[in-house]
Amino acid sequence: MGVAALAGQASATTRIPVLVIGTGYGGAVAALRLAQAGVDVHMVEMGLAWDTPGPDGTIFANMTNPDHRSYWLRTKTKQPLSNFLGFPVDKDISRYTGILDAEEFSGITVYQGRGVGGGSLVNGGMAVTPRRERFRAVLPSVDVDEMYNVYYPRANAVLGVNTVDPVWWETAECYRFARVGRKHAQRSGLQFVFVPSVYDFDYMKREAAGSAPRSALAAEVIYGNNHGKKTLQQTYLALAKATGRVTISPLHKVTSVTPTAGGGYTVAIDWLDTAGNTTASVTTTAAKVFFAAGSVGTSKLLTKLKATGGLPGLNNEIGKGWGDNGNVMCGRANHMWDPTGALQASMPTAGIDNWDAGGAFAEVAPIPTGMETYASLYLSITKNPHRAEFSWNATTGKVDLNWRTAWKQPAIEAAKTIFDKINAKEGTIYRTDLFGFCKTWGDQLTYHPLGGAVLNKATDNYGRLHGHPGLYVIDGALIPGNTSVNPFVTITALAERNIENIIANDL
Ligand code: FDA
Repeated sequence: MGVAALAGQASATTRIPVLVIGTGYGGAVAALRLAQAGVDVHMVEMGLAWDTPGPDGTIFANMTNPDHRSYWLRTKTKQPLSNFLGFPVDKDISRYTGILDAEEFSGITVYQGRGVGGGSLVNGGMAVTPRRERFRAVLPSVDVDEMYNVYYPRANAVLGVNTVDPVWWETAECYRFARVGRKHAQRSGLQFVFVPSVYDFDYMKREAAGSAPRSALAAEVIYGNNHGKKTLQQTYLALAKATGRVTISPLHKVTSVTPTAGGGYTVAIDWLDTAGNTTASVTTTAAKVFFAAGSVGTSKLLTKLKATGGLPGLNNEIGKGWGDNGNVMCGRANHMWDPTGALQASMPTAGIDNWDAGGAFAEVAPIPTGMETYASLYLSITKNPHRAEFSWNATTGKVDLNWRTAWKQPAIEAAKTIFDKINAKEGTIYRTDLFGFCKTWGDQLTYHPLGGAVLNKATDNYGRLHGHPGLYVIDGALIPGNTSVNPFVTITALAERNIENIIANDL
């Protein structure tokens, strides 16, 4: 079985053993392990398959020239760095089921990947395992030894995590920006750390040497990578499909899951065209359903189903505990003698770890514009304590999130423990032209939505939803708002842990 429409299987009399909503990290782990245990799995994904080149011969657009493929159902791009030298950089595009969703809620834009592979299609590949004590603080009900002895190693192995060759890195033109970042961090007495990645650094070496088509070195990242990055399509999902037990239906959006008389669940699904229109609405039944639609997707479905009576047994923890992983961005203006390089690899390799002293871990991020900008860019992950809640809005028929822009202030304060220090030492200033006109902080967004169906609260300690046997959450919605580092390795490792328990006890 491969990619398919759910058409032939949509009859109410056909019962799928397991339906997985979403094809990101949590969904891919569930599909692989269930299939290996002999269970047939059907995955439904609202985004595209992303397996066919467009008219320009490539599957994905790059960051310097976004087009219709780049955004989910928008007529104008919504770039995280919205301005340059104060001027807006967004441009008109045609509406399409593109790869990056900039989903707007009150006070925050949540960026998410859309398509087979979920966030793995658009992310920066930073594959970071948090320090043990930090993990313990995030998920106290989880056995830390098991996570670090079994599930983190398992996740890292299947994801294909690797590290950059430090000797090559020291002289590679494309990491000049990161070496400048290291120099500035170390001169201020801050800890500079390398981070692993799922981008194949041997491939990147060949890009730099001119012997392979460029991807990281051609500004490809948030709208997809045509080469080099090991997305879920190359790892978990490839292994899952190879079992012959996993079917994936792209452009299928789940709208409802309700108990079926006699057991199991009826799943309502809209078929979408590439303009986002619903071309048909079908139902199917499944014995078990895994919610793997991402923190936002899973929370929206469960919040709606609880409020509208579709899943009345869900408890009052649904929709709660949502956080932005403390994300905040900023840029610094370097001196003319500190150029960051016209050629910048789009894949970060390092960060500044000031978590213990200041509550911030800042990734040293590229600005791959193809020209010298004299800017250093950082995405900080901070210990922001604020948590928001999803709620059903009966008037609009949509799910709201009660985040407030002002809630980013603790994140800004934490990031300043790094960058005020560096600016003071270097005699430099913040860039104020990247996130608007005279705006220092990129505090309008997150790349790392987490929570909304928190482990051991909305679910049991392994992701079983309370009140409805056979329903599970297995994605970033389980993690209560923060992981202290970039989240996908933790989401994957936790899914590995949970699915093992579920297979052993429920199937
Ligand atoms: P994920 O979001 O991956 O998958 C959910 C899937 O469900 C999506 O494919 C979605 O389309 C689908 N879906 C949603 N609702 C649906 C419905 N109703 N019906 C059917 N399908 C539905 N992390 C990290 O660790 N290192 C990094 O470097 C980065 N960098 C980064 C950059 C950018 C630009 C972004 C947007 C994100 C990152 N991340 C990251 C974050 C990381 O990608 C994210 O945490 C994970 O993808 C989340 O994994 P999940 O399994 O929770 O859901």
